[in-house]
Amino acid sequence: MNTSCSVFCGVSLDGFIARPDGALDFLEGDGTAEMGDHGYDAFMASIDAIVMGRNTYEVVKGFGQWPYTKKVIVLSSTDPDLAEIRSSGADVEHLNASPEEVVAQLALRGIHQLYIDGGATVQRFLRAGLIDRLIVTHVPVLIGEGIRLFGALEHDVQLKLVASRSFPGGLVQSEYVKR
Ligand SMILES: NC(=O)c1ccc[n+]([C@@H]2O[C@H](COP(=O)([O-])OP(=O)(O)OC[C@H]3O[C@@H](n4cnc5c(N)ncnc54)[C@H](OP(=O)(O)O)[C@@H]3O)[C@@H](O)[C@H]2O)c1
Repeated sequence: MNTSCSVFCGVSLDGFIARPDGALDFLEGDGTAEMGDHGYDAFMASIDAIVMGRNTYEVVKGFGQWPYTKKVIVLSSTDPDLAEIRSSGADVEHLNASPEEVVAQLALRGIHQLYIDGGATVQRFLRAGLIDRLIVTHVPVLIGEGIRLFGALEHDVQLKLVASRSFPGGLVQSEYVKR
């Protein structure tokens, strides 16, 4: 079975996934409309594991309640503190490996449908040519600065738009697959 790496994220119209301090408040819109789930639950049901960067892990850990029932792989060159999250019953582990090695190691364990999360992490997987599907939901707000979803590339990444959806509240979701 081939591995598939997908991205599912919310982005300001000017391309940021978080404010400079990591705040995600702008993803909730201006509060005038129900922002809803926008396919997140169905997407989560389709994946085997979430592969997230250490920065995203630290933010999610701070939510108070661990939001995932799926396995989470935290990528870090350091030794992230997983003990507290694990003690709450969460399935979390740490890997320090290149995107290619992560995909190969997980495939050996039968883990093939991967949700890649975190700006720098998505960028590393894109540079390695490993992102197969991108579902990006643009929130109608400009925040001016922050943490970018996309960054420098050695080569263009050609994508094919397979779906475009708009939602009350002005969200526009675009789904792309690698050409
Ligand atoms: N809007 C959204 O939908 C959305 C989605 C996800 C995240 N976010 C936000 O984005 C922010 C985090 O993004 P980010 O770009 O700062 O970082 P990130 O991708 O979450 O984390 C980057 C870190 O992950 C580790 N890492 C990544 N790839 C690795 C690899 N192959 N091997 C070893 N370590 C690897 C490194 O940690 P070390 O430095 O420990 O080595 C690196 O510094 C947070 O604020 C989060 O809330 C928003």
